[in-house]
Amino acid sequence: MKSTKSVEPLFTSFEIGELKLENRFVMAPMTRKFSPNGIPGSNVAEYYRRRAENGVGLIITEGTLIEHPAAGAEPDVPHFYGEEALNGWAQVVKEVHEAGGKIAPQIWHTGMAREKKNFPDSDVNPIGPSGINLTGEKVSEPLSVEEIQELIQAYANAASNAKKLGFDAVEIHGAHGYLIDQFFWDVTNKRTDEYGGDLVSRTRFAVDVIKAVRQAVGPNFTIIFRFSQWKVTDYNFKLAKTPDELKIFLQPLSEAGVDIFHASTRRFWKPEFEESDLNLAGWARKITGKPAITVGSVGLDSEIMNLFTEGKGGQPADIDNLIDRLEREEFDLVAVGRALLADPAWVAKIREGNTEELRSFTKEALNILK
Ligand SMILES: Cc1cc2nc3c(=O)[nH]c(=O)nc-3n(C[C@H](O)[C@H](O)[C@H](O)COP(=O)(O)O)c2cc1C
Repeated sequence: MKSTKSVEPLFTSFEIGELKLENRFVMAPMTRKFSPNGIPGSNVAEYYRRRAENGVGLIITEGTLIEHPAAGAEPDVPHFYGEEALNGWAQVVKEVHEAGGKIAPQIWHTGMAREKKNFPDSDVNPIGPSGINLTGEKVSEPLSVEEIQELIQAYANAASNAKKLGFDAVEIHGAHGYLIDQFFWDVTNKRTDEYGGDLVSRTRFAVDVIKAVRQAVGPNFTIIFRFSQWKVTDYNFKLAKTPDELKIFLQPLSEAGVDIFHASTRRFWKPEFEESDLNLAGWARKITGKPAITVGSVGLDSEIMNLFTEGKGGQPADIDNLIDRLEREEFDLVAVGRALLADPAWVAKIREGNTEELRSFTKEALNILK
């Protein structure tokens, strides 16, 4: 894999409010199931420290659960509540900062993606806007407005704890078909109150979450909002079929207080709509005027769907097209997922032009934390 372009544009600084990053690389949030009883231990702190030592500009942690009995679907996924888990996160922050890095937790509720039989308690029902799961089956009761208010507060509490622990920003997980995205999606949201209806009304829950988070963290703490068109059950789904629909969707979120949009796609080079070559992050930036993070197969010749459907890995791929797009200011930041799982030194190798030494990604990387 030989690049023909200078990587310099990726190694320029980036600043928004109080968040100052040394370069444009972001570690994408990736669920790692290495936190027994929800508590991240020293192995988790070391795992993030290694990425910080090797020059990742901003680390976004694996999805970490807000305080709610049905937030998680699997054991060993970290919590973002309770003294022990928060102490574990404090150690993560300390080690990342010592290594010169910056870090934001991704705060997460799986909603109806959790099956009733799932961890932690099979007596607890999955929750979601209409009690409808991602395949369209009604399996529990719709959330009451009171329960919705409690969930909004749980996101705000998590964000407040992120700030107290010294994190540099917070990312709200609004993507991939999990709780917040279930409000966006008309398959899972059939509500007829203020939290359902047309696309704008379906952003209401996210808007309330963003406002509550903003209230909890104050004006200067960076809020990143991750959204996607695709769902874990439908990789080709499009919530917004046109730029106009995307505008209708993103504007309320932007006005509610998002600082950076993180547009989750599987291939960063794919134009989102026919009108132009812009990818989803490019459109988010153009529509909202806010900075945007792109993601999807950076540095690899395969995409995430190949991993989840076939268990397939990937080989290193050049990033010339990525640099072109960054130079055109299509987006501001670049998130890297699997390549950084496989290789903690991925960013350092890119910076130094050591591309012959880049590791390939194999699914075995999921089973180890190093
Ligand atoms: C093992 C694994 C776990 C993931 N977990 C999360 C997650 O917790 N939250 C999230 O928003 N995305 C998650 N993703 C998606 C990644 O953040 C990223 O968008 C995706 O892997 C595409 O980037 P890549 O092609 O560079 O790997 C996960 C991806 C992988 C491979």
